[in-house]
Order: sequence, then structure tokens, then C-alpha cells
Amino acid sequence: MLDYIRKISWYILSNKKRYALIVLFLLIANVLDIIPPQLIGRTIDLINNGELTKEITRNILIIFAAVIVLAYIVTYWWAYLLFEGAIKIESIIRSRLMRKFLLLSPSFYEKSKTGDLMAKATNDLKTVNMATGFGIITLLDSTTFLLTIILVMGFTISWQLTFFALLPLPLLAIIEQRLGKMINKRHKSSQEAFGVMNDAVLEVVEGVRLTRSYVQEDAENRRFHSLTENYLNKFMKVEKLDAFFQPLTIIVVSSSIAISFGYGSVLVNNGLITVGELITFNVYLNMLIWPMFALGMLFNIMERGNASYDRIQNVLDEADVLNTSGEMSVKETNFNFNEVTFKYPTGNRNSLRNITLELNKGETLGIVGKTGSGKSTFIKQLLKIYPEGTGELIIDGVNISSLDRKKLREKLGYVSQENILFSRTVRENIMFGKPDATEEEMMEAVRLSAFDEDLKRMPEGLDTLVGEKGMSLSGGQKQRISIARSLIRQPDILILDDALSAVDARTEQRIINHIKNNRQGKTTIIITHRLSAVHHADKIIVLENGSIVESGTHKQLSDGEGWYSEQNDYFITGG
Ligand SMILES: Nc1ncnc2c1ncn2[C@@H]1O[C@H](COP(=O)(O)OP(=O)(O)OP(=O)(O)O)[C@@H](O)[C@H]1O
Ligand SMILES: [Mg+2]
Repeated sequence: MLDYIRKISWYILSNKKRYALIVLFLLIANVLDIIPPQLIGRTIDLINNGELTKEITRNILIIFAAVIVLAYIVTYWWAYLLFEGAIKIESIIRSRLMRKFLLLSPSFYEKSKTGDLMAKATNDLKTVNMATGFGIITLLDSTTFLLTIILVMGFTISWQLTFFALLPLPLLAIIEQRLGKMINKRHKSSQEAFGVMNDAVLEVVEGVRLTRSYVQEDAENRRFHSLTENYLNKFMKVEKLDAFFQPLTIIVVSSSIAISFGYGSVLVNNGLITVGELITFNVYLNMLIWPMFALGMLFNIMERGNASYDRIQNVLDEADVLNTSGEMSVKETNFNFNEVTFKYPTGNRNSLRNITLELNKGETLGIVGKTGSGKSTFIKQLLKIYPEGTGELIIDGVNISSLDRKKLREKLGYVSQENILFSRTVRENIMFGKPDATEEEMMEAVRLSAFDEDLKRMPEGLDTLVGEKGMSLSGGQKQRISIARSLIRQPDILILDDALSAVDARTEQRIINHIKNNRQGKTTIIITHRLSAVHHADKIIVLENGSIVESGTHKQLSDGEGWYSEQNDYFITGG
């Protein structure tokens, strides 16, 4: 439990004033809380001795009322300050997490489950909030209250009685300490199960159409049910431990009360304390039930918080971030690949082998080859998405490792093979490429990407909302919006990764012609499975197993004997 406090101490230390005030208010509240039992005991003794006058009664009632009002005010304040602090730490950590998510490398995402990351950003953070708010209040409240009451019982009534009555307490602490460790472990595994379940929810929702078309609803249901069941079991394991605390507290406090009455009556008989004092003492003992109970919950909450905090911290500590090093910016756009070889961090063989290639500013490069031959990988090296491989990749005479990733990206317009659209309007999706684009630039991008015809048929034109991931659009429409998004930036280097695969041959030619005319003097890289898209390229390379096996212009290659001419003949003769 103290572990958790240590972990969030950075936050408490940076909010010293807040927490000092909380402690101060708590102490005042505690002192106020011990006044009523004192009043009760004194009144009883006054009645016993027949000394209770009207005036004294009135004073007692006034003090009573004042104490209640004051206690209300200070309690309001510490609770307010504390919960505000808790929600703040939650949002601070969440922002850190989001910032980290944006920095983490693709390999990190390949090995983590989205559902689990979401669980961390929501559920685990809530647990941290709980531990920091509710947890700390209970810790401060129960310990200071416990101490105050013990001191008051000792000083105002009897140390002997206090000592014996509290004998059963340490037992509770020892058991709680033990259970705390178990809770931590079980909570971690319960949260992991939650993450897996979360991921399954995502998959079910995203894959709902696939599931339906393959009539796999029942199988999916069963799979999901077993995941929910698994989470439920693990969650119940935590709850079982939790439930263990409550009866335990009652047993311990009841034995304290029994001892205090037994031993207390002896003390009263011997005239060491009065009846009123014994009653006050027992009221105090009863007041101990709450802090004891709270301490039980506290161990639970803090251990859960501790476990969740670790899960989040693991992401924050993840070293697998994008390589952002390098400060040089790109001026011209001449590329030089020199024996570049690359293996994915998670891969087991080279996806690029000894790639040597030169591409000058203004040239168009076509990349073709079988599926899985390394075309997209080639581009990802250029984009600095993955760690660098061996060999040299020189842009404008500067090694890519010394280039600033952001500055490099600013030069690029990249249409990836997976079309990713946001659930926003068409306009917003295109403007994502250039947030300050004018209406003319916008319409030009739409025209170049041959999206103008489609746009006329859309109910609200550019302001038509695109469904979750662009569901209401056809594949070809999505591709063309993605192309428009990259063209609107007028990038120095345009990269189309299989970006025309879902459009018909005529539309493809239209777009290619537009690009050819519009991008004179600028570098363009086109990856395609349809050779017609690269006929005009200055240079075409054919990849196979990560190596360049052919290169040249369309004319040279189609006159040759290799894969390219084979494909070309196949296309012309129809196989
Ligand atoms: N993130 C990754 N981690 C590990 N291996 C990968 C990863 N991405 C691709 N690969 C592997 O690298 C090789 C080249 O993949 P790449 O995506 O570059 O092929 P491609 O030529 O673009 O294929 P396609 O025409 O189907 O798009 C493949 O064998 C693939 O399995
Ligand atoms: Mg690819």
C-alpha cells in the first residue's frame, strides 16, 4: 500500500498546498468529531449527580449544534479538495498516456492489443483515480481518526482500558497486509482479462459484417462468452478477497467492545472511572468501526490502484518509440538507396535486401512486384516509420538518420495501402492534409483525384459525414478521398501505395494523367499491381523477396524477359 503512495508521491509533492490543507481540515474535523461523545458522557455524569441545570443543557445544545455545522464545513472542504486532486491526477496521467501513444512505434502497436490499451486509458485510470481520491482520504482519515480517538480514550478516560480494548487490532493489520499482496496480483490479472475482453468487443463490432456474411454469429458469441466468463471469474477472485475484510473487521471490533465492557465494569466498580466515562469510551470504540472498516477497504483500493498504476507505467516506460532523432531538414528530394537491407523487429527474415537505387527530384518511380515482395516496406523505410536497417539511405546527401522525421514528413504526401478515414465530413478528411487550405485548393484536389463526379452525388457534397471509418463509402471513393488528402498539400514527394487498386481502369488513367500533368518537376512514387499505372514512370523497379530483380523504363522492361514483360503480355493478351 505504501508502495502506491510512493508511486504517486510526485503528484502529492507538486500539490503540497492542496494536501497540506486537506490534512489540516481533516485534523480539525477529527477534533470536532470527538466532542459529542465527551458531551454525552459529561451529561450522563451530571444527571447522575443531579447537577444538570437548564442553563448547562442550553449551553451543551449550542455547542453540539456549532460542532455539527463546523464539521460539515471542514468536511466539505477536504472532500472537495481531495476528489478534485484525484480527478486531476487522472487527467494528467491520461494526457501523458495519449502523448506516449502518439510517440510509440508501429512495432509496439503490432505487439499490443488495442482493447488492452483502451482499458489502460479508461478502466485502469479510473482505478488510479479511486486510489488517489477515495484511497488517500481513507488513509488520512482513518489513521488520523484512529490515532486521535486512541489518544483521547487514553488521556481522558484510561490508558489501561484503552490498551486492553485495542489488543485485537494488530491482528487485523497483519491479515490485511497479507491479503493486500494477493489483491494486487489478482487485480492485475483481472485487468488483463478485461483488456482481452475489450479487444474482443472491438473485433466483434468492427468485424460484424464479416461475421454475418460467414454466418459465424454463434461461434463468435461463444468465443465472446468465454472471454466474459474469464473476466468475471478473475474479477470475482478479487471481490472474494474484498468480502473477506468486512466480517473480519466486525469480529475484531466486537471483541474490542466485549473487552472494554468486561474490563471497564471492573474499573467502574473500583471507582477508577465513572459510568459516564465508560459510556463515552464505548461510543469512541464504536466510532472506531468506520476507520477500521475503511482501512480494510483501503488496502483493497490501494492495491488495485497500485496494480493499475503499474500497468499504465509500463506503457509510459516503453522505450520502443519512433526514432525522432536528427535535426536536418530536407531541401531537394534526391534519394540514394545504397545496399539497404531491413528486417522488421517482429519479423524473422529480411523484408528488404540490398536495395540500391537512385531517384532524382522530379522523377517518377514505379514499384511493382508480387504481393509480399516488400513494396510497402520500401516506402516505410523512406517514411522513417520503423527503425533503420543496414546500408545507407541518403536524401539530398544527408543520411536519413540525421533527418528530422517531422520535417521529412512535411515534404511527403503519403497514401497508405489501408485507407484510413476519420468519422468526420469529406471536407474535414481532405483538409486533414492541409488544415489551412483554401476552397480553390480543395476543389483542385477533388478534381485531381477524380472525386468530383462522386461528390455531385453525395447528399451534402463536401459536408457529407463519412461513417465510422468511412463505411458508407465505396472502396474506390475512400481511396480517392485519401488521394485528395495527400494532393491538397502539393507535396514534394507523392507516394501512392496501391492507392488506385479499387478504381476502374478509366478512372485510374484519369487520375494518373492528372498527376502526370500536375506534378511536373516533383517526385512521385507509385506502387501498383496494375502496370498501366506506371507506364509513364521514369524508372520502374520490380521487387521480389525484398530484392530488386528488374529495373528500367516500361519500354525496356516489357521488351525484356522477366516478370514484368510476362505480366505485361498477360495483361495485353488477357492471359
Ligand atoms: N509489420 C510487419 N512486421 C513483420 N513483417 C512484416 C510486417 N509488414 C510486412 N511484413 C513482411 O514483410 C514482407 C513484405 O511486406 P510488404 O508489406 O512490404 O509487401 P508488399 O509488397 O507491400 O505486398 P502487397 O502487394 O500485398 O501490399 C512480407 O513477407 C510481410 O510478411
Ligand atoms: Mg503493400
